[in-house]
Formats: sequence, C-alpha cells, structure tokens
Amino acid sequence: MSAVTDFTRWLSTEFTAANTGLEGAYFAAGQEIVYDDHDLDQRKRALRDDGATLVTRIGTTSTDNPYDLLGAVGLYLAACRRHEVDAPEAAQAVAGRLGLALGVAPRFVFAHLSTHNPAARTFTDLPDEQLFIDHNGLGVLAYQRAAAALRRIPSVTTALAAALYDEALAALDAVLAANRALAESLDPDRFFLNVRPYFKPHVVVGTEYRGANAGDFAAVNEIDLALGLCDLGDPFYQRILAEKYPYVPPEDQPRLRTPPADLLALVERDGTHAERYLAVCRAHGAAYAFHHHRLVVPFLARPAESMPPDRRARLTASGPPLDVVLATLSRLVDLRAARDRPGTASERVRAVTGTGPG
Ligand code: HEM
Repeated sequence: MSAVTDFTRWLSTEFTAANTGLEGAYFAAGQEIVYDDHDLDQRKRALRDDGATLVTRIGTTSTDNPYDLLGAVGLYLAACRRHEVDAPEAAQAVAGRLGLALGVAPRFVFAHLSTHNPAARTFTDLPDEQLFIDHNGLGVLAYQRAAAALRRIPSVTTALAAALYDEALAALDAVLAANRALAESLDPDRFFLNVRPYFKPHVVVGTEYRGANAGDFAAVNEIDLALGLCDLGDPFYQRILAEKYPYVPPEDQPRLRTPPADLLALVERDGTHAERYLAVCRAHGAAYAFHHHRLVVPFLARPAESMPPDRRARLTASGPPLDVVLATLSRLVDLRAARDRPGTASERVRAVTGTGPG
C-alpha cells in the first residue's frame, strides 16, 4: 500500500476516533481543552506521533490530487494545533511543499471539508461537526449559484437577464435558509468547545497561517462586486480580497483577480431591471446580516465573553483579536446591505431604484 493510502486510511479511522474521544473528555469537563491529565496527554501525543510517522513517510511522493492531499495533511496539522501538541517540522514540511506547488496557503481550508472533500473527511464523528460543515457547505453552494447567475447577465438579452436575476435571488434566499437552519439546530456549547477549535490558525514551517472559515471562496466577493456594493479601490475591501486569496481553492483564485462586470452601472445606464437588481441586493444584505447577528454573535462572540482573557485573545479563526474580527464583519454587513453610511453604495443604489436596499 502507498504511503498516501496508509495515511488517508488512518485519517478516516483512528484519527477521527482519537479526536472524538478527546472531544468527549473536554466536553465532559465543560472546557475547550483539558491539561495535566496523564491519560489525555498520552492520547494527544499518540495522535501527534502516529500521524507524524505516516505523514513524514509521504515525503515528496507525487499524487494525482495534490489539493486533496494538502487537505488531508492539513486536517492532521489542525488537530495537533487543536490539542496543543506540536507537529514535527518534517510533517509540516509535507504541507508546505504541497501548498507551494499549488500556490495556496499550506493548510486545510473550508473547501477541504465541503466542496473539495470526495472522501467525506471530518475531524470527529460528532453529529455537531457534520451539521456545521453541511450547512456551511450548502451556503457556499448557494453563493456559487448566485455568482454564476450574475456573471452571465452582461452577455444575455433583457428577457434572459430577468431570469438570471431571479435565479440569483432564489440562490441568496437559499443562503439565508441554510444559515437559519444552522442557527436553529447547532448546539452553541458543542460548536464552541468541540468544533470551532479545529479551525484555528497554526504554524507551518515557521509561518503562522490564519484559521479556516466558510467565507474562503470567491463567489461572495464576486456578488459584492457585480452588485456594485463593494469597490476594489476601497482599501478596506482590497485588504479583504488580498488576505483571502491564498485560502480559496486554486480555481477560485482567477475569479478574485478578475472582477466581474458592475451590474449597478448597467442599471444606472437605462434603469432596466432596477427592481430585480434591488431585490438581489436586499437578499444579499439579509443573508449576511443574519450571518452576523444570528451566527457570529451567538455562536462566537457571546460564548467568548465567559472565557479567561488569555484564551480569549487567541480565539478567532483568522487570528486577530475578536473585537477586530467583529469590526471587520460589521463593516462588511454595512457594505453588503448598502447601509446609509459614508463609503457604502447606498447613494448610487437609491439614485437608480428610488429606494434604499435595506
Ligand atoms: C456558527 C456558524 C458560523 C460562525 C460562528 C461564523 C463565523 C465567522 C467569522 C468569525 C468570520 C470571519 C472570519 C475571521 O476573520 O475570523 C466569518 C466569515 C465568513 N463566513 Fe461565517 N460563520 C458561520 C457560518 C457561516 C455560514 C453558514 C456561511 C455561509 C456560507 C458563512 C459565510 C461566511 C462568509 C462569506 C465569510 C467571509 C466574509 C468575506 O470575507 O467576504 N459563515 N464567519
């Protein structure tokens, strides 16, 4: 059997069993992690050492799906980070080499658990993790449907453009539905203690890479730009795209480099489909406002309030302190909802539709 097969088989069996067992112990203690427990410490180290042996054997072996292998090695490295045991540099270097060859960050990203996950890999066997991944993944697919519909509008007739706006609207309503279903079914404690910790930043051969989140794909930004709600000349928004670039799947990178046609400019030209355009803006703003107020706040910001200050500082998936992440996300809510604030597209939108989107 090849080194890759040995490793991926371990990942689907002993790795998930070991993580699931450790999560059970942490949850029973009501903590994100338990220290100074002889049995648990041994199990954390065994996971690190068994995985390191298998990953290191892969070395520079070539594979027909290097992005999939990067995800697999990335899951192992993220689990080491989650249990706070340092993976050996030789194992980190396998991820480093794959990331370099692909031109992406050398870590697992959300795509490896969702849209690019043919082996249906997970960290644990916990239903909460599966629920979280599935609903996030449904949201991503729906954003991608909306972006695909909007992308085609500039090259079709007026009648077809109407159908494409309607398609985009239905897709953004589906994003909201997936977010709502997640908010209603995800257990906040399980998410906070047993799922979120696998998504943290970690080091690969000396450089720290920020954590994974469901926003790491191009479609949501294509929608922002196509609707004219965000602007590549805006330093805030430019930073969002440049920062995100290494974390999206390789085929999404050209989409972040090449902005779509500005549909607001088309509506401004002759007013065609202004109402449909506005309905799509409203749905985009509503889905993202829901993300902020009904997912980020109750599942991340609120539980964080009861954490000790030293752990709180290292809490977010991206790495910056929580209040910085929250400020960035609320600025994105304002832009996507075209709130009547300086720097948003609210005035342009109001001029063509006679009404604001929010
Ligand atoms: C419990 C559920 C969720 C929580 C706590 C959550 C939290 C977050 C956080 C904290 C960020 C900012 C990343 C950072 O800088 O740390 C983020 C970004 C993002 N999330 Fe979520 N999220 C959740 C579910 C979802 C779902 C279901 C979707 C739907 C696809 C989604 C879509 C996004 C998008 C699009 C961004 C990035 C915005 C951008 O860069 O354009 N999230 N999320």
